[in-house]
Amino acid sequence: MASAPAKVILFGEHFVVHGEPALVLAIDKRAYAKAEKREDKKLFIQSSNLNLAAYFENDILRIERGNPKEAKIKLEPLKYIAEKILETHGERVGLNIEVNSTVPVAAGLGSSAAVAAAVAAAVGALLNVKMSREDVFRVAYEAEKLVHGTPSGVDPAISTFGGALIFQMDTGFKPLDVKTEIPLVIGNTCVERSTRSQIEKVRSVKERYPQVVEPMMRAAREIVLNAVEALKKGSLDTVGELMNINHALLYGLGVSDESLEWLINAARKAGALGAKLTGAGGGGCMIALAYKDKIEQVLEAVQRAGGNAFIARKTDEGVRIEPS
Ligand code: MEV
Repeated sequence: MASAPAKVILFGEHFVVHGEPALVLAIDKRAYAKAEKREDKKLFIQSSNLNLAAYFENDILRIERGNPKEAKIKLEPLKYIAEKILETHGERVGLNIEVNSTVPVAAGLGSSAAVAAAVAAAVGALLNVKMSREDVFRVAYEAEKLVHGTPSGVDPAISTFGGALIFQMDTGFKPLDVKTEIPLVIGNTCVERSTRSQIEKVRSVKERYPQVVEPMMRAAREIVLNAVEALKKGSLDTVGELMNINHALLYGLGVSDESLEWLINAARKAGALGAKLTGAGGGGCMIALAYKDKIEQVLEAVQRAGGNAFIARKTDEGVRIEPS
């Protein structure tokens, strides 16, 4: 059994796909994966929270429970991971993989990457294939490309390594030592959307208005650099203000929506220092930063506005093997 955390992007989603940095935190919601050997050669995968159960036999997907389209999208990447590790293992054995996740799906919290990292670690441990964290990240990233098209890699990186990271596609990731507490409310609009189509939307805006979007990209980079300094100094006011500016840029790119705006406004009115969408947008989750003594107030406001809201806690624990 292995597990990996979900994440929130504090700054830089979407811009990160185009080479700019992102600042990201692992949070205390985890995906769990259990792997066992089977007598036959099937690869059986089930997920109770997705209500899916299916197996691959000679590369053909046979569904026992759940929606066929969803099963294919969700399970193909996990098959990819299992097969990559089986290749290294050298012997083709059948596997049962059971996924259990507390991470809301398609909500911007990196649920698919957390599941991918947990499955990679669980299968690696079962087959005694030595996998460094770098190996887990690599295979989870390849699997993510099957789900999201051209993701940056930020989601599998944070799910694998945990803590806080500055991530950039060309230079990789740098752990960020954040001493300041970052009290965050996460509000889920419960509007599901596809990361792939949100990434495509931004690409299309960038292609149509390159001169407009280029300065937005540079502004997004400056926001991250300023945020790193503000976090070092423990200046939450500045972090909040930068979140608002970052959200304005994302809004400009067309990746916010009414459901997100509703929750973001409610959080700001209730005294949040800043609020923005997190992840791919178009629904999914928003985050709001508040001083500790205001956090409950902001939480309640987001809930009253219809969000499925909770307080996020940063976790330093990336992917890990769980006691069986
Ligand atoms: C998704 O959590 C964040 C995006 O920037 C996509 C990516 O970086 O892969 C929208």
